[in-house]
Amino acid sequence: MVETIQWTEAGVVMIDQRALPRQEIYVACRDYREVAEAIRAMVIRGAPAIGVAAAMGVALGVAQAYSARLDEEFEEICSTLAGTRPTAVNLFWAIDRMRRVYRSVRERPLEQIRARLVEEAQLMKREDVEVNRAMGRHGATLVPDGKTVLTHCNAGALATAGYGTALGVIRAAVEIGKKIDVFADETRPFLQGARLTAWELQQDGIPTTVITDNMAGHFLRSGRIGCVIVGADRIAANGDVANKIGTYGVAVLAKESGVPFYVAAPVSTLDLSLASGDQIPIEQRNPAEVTQLAGVPITPDGVGVENPAFDVTPHRYVAAIITERGVAIPPYTESLRRLAQARAAV
Ligand code: MRU
Repeated sequence: MVETIQWTEAGVVMIDQRALPRQEIYVACRDYREVAEAIRAMVIRGAPAIGVAAAMGVALGVAQAYSARLDEEFEEICSTLAGTRPTAVNLFWAIDRMRRVYRSVRERPLEQIRARLVEEAQLMKREDVEVNRAMGRHGATLVPDGKTVLTHCNAGALATAGYGTALGVIRAAVEIGKKIDVFADETRPFLQGARLTAWELQQDGIPTTVITDNMAGHFLRSGRIGCVIVGADRIAANGDVANKIGTYGVAVLAKESGVPFYVAAPVSTLDLSLASGDQIPIEQRNPAEVTQLAGVPITPDGVGVENPAFDVTPHRYVAAIITERGVAIPPYTESLRRLAQARAAV
């Protein structure tokens, strides 16, 4: 399975997801500012992956910081990384976790502080893979045998430290012997489905078909799709789910077609401080992502453009939320709170 991100002597190394699937290029971020820029520019993307990247960015920042004003520098590092992308709560969860570790060791000698932060960031990477495998085990039973699974965006190994959330459930279903194939929405405008989901599932030998986003309704009506599984960037207390733009439309079409719509996400994606999805900040990205295809302009110059990177799917469309601690079903206000309070599975 592909290594999305690694802590190395040369810095934090990431596979450049902008270049896939045509080129496998690895980028080394040599300081925390380069890690922040890699997250912002989507060299690395996907909620859990950017959480791990931010944790490694904090560790790298402290490894290069001066002891005289360490507290101040620590906060600068955290706020630079936190300012990269607003929607995925895993970014802020990871930075908070690193901040708690820092506070618990800040009186110690600098070398010990640095070593402890590197250790925590690496632990978060390992834990993420285990969390995804646990999610896979819980979710695999929900996947109908002999049918097609529809997914949107990329919630796979590339979007995490490995194995994936939605694609982790698909991988786990295949591992227990279910005969399934996958339809990957291309996911305009960044094409995470066409480029990344198709690439990583093809590498695993899982039969995958790319469809354009506007074909989803057609196939959902056809009876061929057994379920939809997507990842999430932030889930509010009532079960409303922020995920890649276009997810909401797929969820409504799935409900209309009687196809269950599942969300697979770790507990670190829950934001129970928000009562509903209306409070989730939605990232607005560069209009050029919409007006150009592979750098070639496709719209008239000067035309108005909107580019929200995420949308919110109201909880009434979500049949279940698969986490590493178990599967939450409606009413989510209760089931998600119970899962958040349950003992960590990993
Ligand atoms: O803009 P991106 O590519 O970071 O958005 C990614 C998604 O929306 C994923 O579906 C989500 O982060 C879950 S990844 C396991």
